[in-house]
This record gives sequence, C-alpha cells and structure tokens, in this order.
Amino acid sequence: MYTDKVMDHFENPRNVGEISDANGIGQVGNPTCGDIMKIYLKVDNDVITDIKFKTFGCGAAIATSSMVTEMAKGKTIEEALRLSNQAVAEALDGLPPQKMHCSNLAADALHAAIENYREKQK
Ligand code: FES
Repeated sequence: MYTDKVMDHFENPRNVGEISDANGIGQVGNPTCGDIMKIYLKVDNDVITDIKFKTFGCGAAIATSSMVTEMAKGKTIEEALRLSNQAVAEALDGLPPQKMHCSNLAADALHAAIENYREKQK
C-alpha cells in the first residue's frame, strides 16, 4: 500500500532530531488525528543550511517529514515557502488516499518554521 520511497523514508528517516541553535522553529498539529510535527531551521543569508525534524505521528507523517527536510535543505526561504504538501507527497511517489491528510503536516511545519525565522529577524 505504501510506495518504496515512503517505506525508505519511514525506515531510514533523514534529518531526525533538534538543532540547538535553530533560528526558526515551527510546530503544527494534524487536526484529523492529533499527530504533531516540529521542524528546526538553521538559516544563513536566507538559505536553509540545516534542518531537522521531530514527528510524533504515523509512518506516513514520518516519511513526509523526512522528505520535506531533504527538499528544503539548501533552498532559499522563498523557494522553501513554495514547497507544497502536494509536492512532498508527489516526491514520495504518492500516498494512499486515506493517508493524504498525513502529508498536510510537512510543508505546513516548514512554513511555520520560516514564519518564526522571519519574526525573529524583525
Ligand atoms: Fe496522523 Fe498520519 S495518522 S499524521
């Protein structure tokens, strides 16, 4: 039911953990199931140089978290803001229809972390 890419990112998630000196942190909860995703950013000159996540959620949520960190690393914050939940799900070669809501956390948590970074810059 899950694609090979989903299983790979679930079993070997990339960029798990925290960044102690993060300059942007975003957390979102999934209203459908109550799962939570937190993303830590290290931004230098508007470029995401490091990104880590912690997800308390299902396998699909962990796989989408892992994928969104890979997609965002090295991008400018403008580019990262254009990453959509849909794009993350597509990069995993899709999710089962009943698990699409799980992908809603990924880009939302990233965008929340970028908002937090921007707030701190003010
Ligand atoms: Fe909650 Fe997947 S069931 S994020």
